[in-house]
Amino acid sequence: MSVKKLFIKSYGCQMNVYDSNRMTDLLRPLGYETTDLAEGADIVILNTCHIREKAEDKVYSDLGRIKPFKAAKSDMILAVAGCSAQALGDEILRQAPYVDMIFGPQTYHQLPEMIAKLSRAKSKDPRATILNVDFPEESKFDHLPDPTPTNADGSSAFVSIQEGCDKFCTFCVVPYTRGAEYSRPVEKIIQEIKALLSRGIKEITLLGQNVNAFHGLDSNSKEWNLGKLIKHIADFQELERIRYTTSHPNDMHDDLYEAHHRVSKLMPHLHLPVQVGSDSILKAMNRKHTCDDYLKIIDKMKSLRPEIAFSSDFIVGFPGESEKDFQETLKLIENVKYAQAYSFKYSIRPGTPAGAMEYQVPEEVKNERLYRLQDLLNTQQLEFNKSFVGKTLDVLFERDGKHEGQLIGKTQYLQSVYVDGKKRLKGSILETKIIDAKQNGLAGELILVQDGTQDQ
Ligand code: 5AD
Ligand code: SF4
Repeated sequence: MSVKKLFIKSYGCQMNVYDSNRMTDLLRPLGYETTDLAEGADIVILNTCHIREKAEDKVYSDLGRIKPFKAAKSDMILAVAGCSAQALGDEILRQAPYVDMIFGPQTYHQLPEMIAKLSRAKSKDPRATILNVDFPEESKFDHLPDPTPTNADGSSAFVSIQEGCDKFCTFCVVPYTRGAEYSRPVEKIIQEIKALLSRGIKEITLLGQNVNAFHGLDSNSKEWNLGKLIKHIADFQELERIRYTTSHPNDMHDDLYEAHHRVSKLMPHLHLPVQVGSDSILKAMNRKHTCDDYLKIIDKMKSLRPEIAFSSDFIVGFPGESEKDFQETLKLIENVKYAQAYSFKYSIRPGTPAGAMEYQVPEEVKNERLYRLQDLLNTQQLEFNKSFVGKTLDVLFERDGKHEGQLIGKTQYLQSVYVDGKKRLKGSILETKIIDAKQNGLAGELILVQDGTQDQ
């Protein structure tokens, strides 16, 4: 079989990274190998994100960049996948008529058939295109091949366990692009995790748009929640670290609290988006919880796992947000003290309730609030990182650094750590003394063990 080149780019969240990997897995048996260059590739897939306008704009600008490559290689297949494909459908063809395939997050398992169908259609009409944005009855997960590890060195992997969302936060497109909430069957997840562990994976991140709403069925049709799943997989000897993301405050449950309390393999780091700290904006966002509900969860987690650290997503400039509302968000941040966080200016998404709300906040106000919010979050992140200087953290080393002899790994809190160390230590979790801290990373020294193994 001749080797064909696949260029695939993921935009947005980790779920898209997972999906891109699965598309790569699907295309490998057809002879496709990945390439870092869109130019000259046989198939180019842009796995898009629709969460904010900026992400959508990026896709059109990348399409414009790829257009000449396509013109130079007439048999190149140019595909737009993911959430923007789902939301925009054939609108993409109007803007970029040189695109060949458009398919959403729920149909990518049909990629081999779509490629064959496109090739048949193109032999009759070179301008033929494929548009596949259905929500099929059957889950794609029933049709995907065994996964391969996510990072090149094979120490950590994502496993998608839940997808879609029924929460309908008024700002968010996810319920429309990813569809209704769906949990994968327990056995399938366990099978996928075991396959990854047999390939040397040490760290699994369970993924879902609302991962703690997971309610997969086992073979006896008994429902499992996320806490139960975590407690179960923690018994797999080869598995050393468990994470999950992204969660919703309303789906915290007793089994999950217990997992945080008892399962040492579950990392003491929780990404729990709150978005804002004002009750009236939370209500307008349809978050269905108050600021106080959120703080109670934080307190409970801290009492169960004192070393736990938190991260969150924030939105500034949601319609109707006053300076007082914004101050309440700052107050909540002061209160929780985040290890890290993502923050965004509210972006109008067509078709969402908030997009049609009155009192949209002016852009310059959003800019100014984002600046103040990020200033506070950055200060907290630096303080958090500095608190480890002189202490020891466990680091999973994953890849080479920029400099010769440098390795980069992740702490239990997802901080990046740089050390001098031998390549063969990649894939190991090693005690590391933290010697310096910046906002975006830590410098460390490996603690030499008695037999000097790190030295070899
Ligand atoms: N504008 C800005 N940020 C948004 N998010 C979701 N929708 C929007 C929007 N319309 C953010 C939320 C969510 C994260 C994944 O993206 O903070 O938690
Ligand atoms: Fe979007 Fe809200 Fe669902 Fe998260 S919980 S995916 S923010 S609708």
